[in-house]
Order: sequence, then C-alpha cells, then structure tokens
Amino acid sequence: MGIKVSAVGHALGERVLTNHELAQYIDTSHEWILERTGITQRTISDHLNTSDLGTQALKNACERYEIDPLSIEAIIVATMTPDHFTPSTASLIQAKMGLNPSKIMAFDVNVACSGFVVGLDLGSALLESKRFKRIAIIGAEVFSKILDWNDRTTCILFGDGAGAMIIDYDATASACVCVNHSEGDLEGTLRACGVPLLQEEAHPLTLSMQGKEVYRFAVDVIPSVMQECATKANLTLKSLDHIVLHQANQRIMDYAMKRLQLDPSKSISNIAKVGNTSAASIPIAVSMALHEGSLHHGERIMVVGFGGGLSYGAATFTL
Ligand code: COA
Repeated sequence: MGIKVSAVGHALGERVLTNHELAQYIDTSHEWILERTGITQRTISDHLNTSDLGTQALKNACERYEIDPLSIEAIIVATMTPDHFTPSTASLIQAKMGLNPSKIMAFDVNVACSGFVVGLDLGSALLESKRFKRIAIIGAEVFSKILDWNDRTTCILFGDGAGAMIIDYDATASACVCVNHSEGDLEGTLRACGVPLLQEEAHPLTLSMQGKEVYRFAVDVIPSVMQECATKANLTLKSLDHIVLHQANQRIMDYAMKRLQLDPSKSISNIAKVGNTSAASIPIAVSMALHEGSLHHGERIMVVGFGGGLSYGAATFTL
C-alpha cells in the first residue's frame, strides 16, 4: 500500500534578480556569491504573496496533469512566510482555487526549509489511514518580504516561489518512506519575525542566520538522515535514480553526494537560477526537472530537507 504522485507543478517570482544587480547596492560580487553558493540569480515576487504563488503552483499541477481541483480532499502548505498567522495559507489557497464548497481539510506546517518533507510525511500518513484519497502538498515562500536587504550574508541566498505535488492513495503503489527530526534551537541559529510578549521587546521583522553554524549542521545531518531513510525503506542509496536535496547551497549538495560516494549527476539542482526558496525548493526542483526531462515518472527518488528548528528529514518514493 502506498502513494502515487499524480501531478507536480510550480510557480516562480516574476522578477529575476541577478548577482550583478545585487552587487550594485550591497558590498558583494557575482563571483563571491557563485563560488560560495552556486547561485547566479533568484526570482523575486513583487506583487504576489505566498498564497498567490501557492495557488499558481497548484493550478499549474492541475493543468499539466489534467486533474480536477475539486477532487482534492486536503491541502497541506509548508511555509515560513505565510500571508497571515490566520487564516492559514492553505485555507487561502483553497478559496483562491474555488474549493470553498468542498469542505476539505486545509492547514499549514512551519518547519522552515524541511517543511515540504514534513508535509509529505503527514500527507502520506493521512492517505495510508484511508481517510483521504487525494492530497495536495504545497511548499510556498515569499522570502523577499522578510529579508534584510542590507545584510549581504543572508539576502544573497533566498528567492520566492512555490511548488505543488498532488499525491493519491494507491494500494498497488510502493510506500512513501519518511523520517523527520528536530534538534530544538533556542540559539537563533536561523530565526525570523518574532511577535514579542511585551511591546518593548522589539523583535526584528527580518531573517537572521548564523551561516557557518547552519552549514556545519547541514553537512553533518544530511548523510545520516539519507542513510536512515534508505535503511527504513530497505533499499540502498546507490539504487536510487535521483536525489533532490533542499536547494540551500550547491557546496552543501556537492559535499553530501561526495561523502556518500554517490554519482553527482544523480543530484537534481536548480539553485543557480532559483536560489534558496526554503520549503518550496524541493517541489520546485522536482517540477522543473520533470518539465525539462531530467526526472521521469516511475523513477525512485529521495528528497531531503534541512533548516531552521534545527530540523531535517528525508523521504523516498516512486515519482
Ligand atoms: N559577499 C562578499 N563577501 C561576503 C558576503 C557576500 N555576500 N557574505 C559574507 N562575506 C564575507 C564575510 O564578511 C567574511 O569576510 P571576512 O573574512 O573579512 O570576515 C568572508 O566573506 C567569509 O564569510 P563566511 O561567513 O566565512 O563565508 P562562508 O564561506 O561560510 O559562506 C554562506 C557564507 C552564508 C554562503 C555559508 O555559510 C552558507 O551557505 N551557510 C549555510 C546557509 C544556508 O544554507 N542557509 C539556509 C539553510 S536552509
């Protein structure tokens, strides 16, 4: 008993912001950003908020695969940049898709850049409970609204976009095997937008990150969580057709593949053009790779998330 991936789609911020443009107003260079991160440009959403991009991604998935949106029974949105605390981004997307009368379940999960993998974990468990037949899992972020555009250590990394995956219960399909963990973080290793208990305790509305700490954390946990997921699924990492790591930094992705002695060409990467879109990065990468022909339905893949929390997880399934 397992899950079938029925549709995948994505939407990107409408404005391309290149490294060269960034270097015109902060103290950085195209060469520095490219060498340290692999990023050459990112896409920024000036007019559409997180729920708008999420809606576009879900519509793209439904149109590409000729799926009737009314057949969707639940929407799970992974985001750390919602339009509001409430209503949830998922409820907004439900309304924008015209699914109000469907009385579906809709909720957000905030697990930073690991959010899509957690959404997949929840979605596949709900399908396996047989309470639902079809669930849309969306990763959607407008990071540009929480970036400090004067902080060259963070604003160069992130972009805006959304990706959607529709998964169905299918008794004949293989299982989606997931593992997810959180370490707990009181240190503010990666933190954004607090609401103070007392008004005088002002919290910055922007993202702050201890980049080196996050880097060390990522290269430490990625190989182990991938191995843990493969063992749980009773398969070897080498047998996977492709790996889709959270698109945080090309150096992190290259390191993980090398450390696990995996063929680097099996790692899907779009970070050069899209930047780090946090919870949206995995479904965007899957959708773009399917569209471009570097991923194919029927292939066994593993997706790997890591980020604020500090959280990390992996899931393996047949695309
Ligand atoms: N342009 C030019 N110079 C920059 C810069 C920029 N955008 N950002 C930092 N620098 C400078 C630093 O000030 C430092 O200068 P100094 O040596 O004079 O003090 C130097 O470059 C090296 O900085 P450092 O922080 O050591 O660079 P790094 O190699 O660790 O790369 C990151 C910085 C942010 C790219 C890297 O730490 C990283 O990718 N971390 C993980 C971040 C991440 O993935 N976050 C999301 C997780 S979901």
